[in-house]
Amino acid sequence: MKDIKKIKEDFIKESSQVETIQGLNELRVRYLGKKGIVTDGLRRLSELPREERPKFGKVLNELKRFIESEIKSLQQQLESEEAKKRVLSESIDITLPGRYIPPGKRHPVTQVLDEIVNTFVSMGFEVEEGPEVELDYYNFEALNIPKDHPAREMQDTFYVKPSSVDNDSTTESDIVLRTHTSPVQIRGMKKRTPPFRFIAPGKVYRCDADVSHTPMFHQVEGLMVGENITFSHLKGVLELFIHCLFGPETPVKFRPSYFPFTEPSTEVDIGCILCSGEGCRVCKGTGWLEVLGAGMVHPKVFEAVGYDTEKYQGFAFGMGVERLTMLKYKIDDIRLFFENDVRFLRQF
Ligand code: DAH
Repeated sequence: MKDIKKIKEDFIKESSQVETIQGLNELRVRYLGKKGIVTDGLRRLSELPREERPKFGKVLNELKRFIESEIKSLQQQLESEEAKKRVLSESIDITLPGRYIPPGKRHPVTQVLDEIVNTFVSMGFEVEEGPEVELDYYNFEALNIPKDHPAREMQDTFYVKPSSVDNDSTTESDIVLRTHTSPVQIRGMKKRTPPFRFIAPGKVYRCDADVSHTPMFHQVEGLMVGENITFSHLKGVLELFIHCLFGPETPVKFRPSYFPFTEPSTEVDIGCILCSGEGCRVCKGTGWLEVLGAGMVHPKVFEAVGYDTEKYQGFAFGMGVERLTMLKYKIDDIRLFFENDVRFLRQF
């Protein structure tokens, strides 16, 4: 019994001197390990007379549990102390320079699109959006492009089969990927009563691919309707727009043209950016570059949205954003916009 008491005293003394986890582990092995003091004591119980064993066994087991619980609480204490020490030694140097994150920037087409939108917004135009998957009615029919109209062949259209139509069906779909932003004219007019003016920027789709065509590209549509809107308004707004985008000295020419949804129709040319009107390969020797289509809204279009054609007039226009971006930055291949090569994109 005296020995057991001595063991406990020794343990208390030794454990009070332990300062590290490693020291604690050594203490645990010395007392509770396979050849440890307590383990050895338990083993030697068998050397005692049978009737003495329970008494000593009980005291030894109590000692064992006491040591176990002491070691456990010491371990928690030491661990939290060591964690504290680690945090304090890992000081952060806030004077070190930060890591450089290269800034991204907007795509050149987006930059020019934003510039076009901002120019028209500054002239009081609202911004309207419409769906890219469009009904034949809005894309063609309501714009005075009937089913048998040759203009439909002009537009190489992606037709979309609704999932309810089985794949072998030869019936023509009345759903298309919009071939121009002009259908937004119809949607926008149905929602409004004149006077108003809005633009409609967005993606459009045509089955076309070469150095100047991609199956998806961007257009900005414009429409202004009121009681006394004339061709002079069309000319004034579009000339101002071109001077904002290409500079105030840029020559502008209105050339008669044809669109089913406008009458009269015009195409707008600017003096060639590359040769300043001298004549070159890009302008095919003419000195002029076509930049957009426009015209006075056709009465048939007003009829489709239920407007009084005697009361209201309006002008409309449509332009290709990639084309304008190519002219503005003298880019000769439209496909560069969609290859995602940062060596190209970084330049803008
Ligand atoms: N929708 C025509 C196209 O995609 C562009 C256009 C021409 C739009 C004349 C108009 C317009 O609103 O009046 O080629």
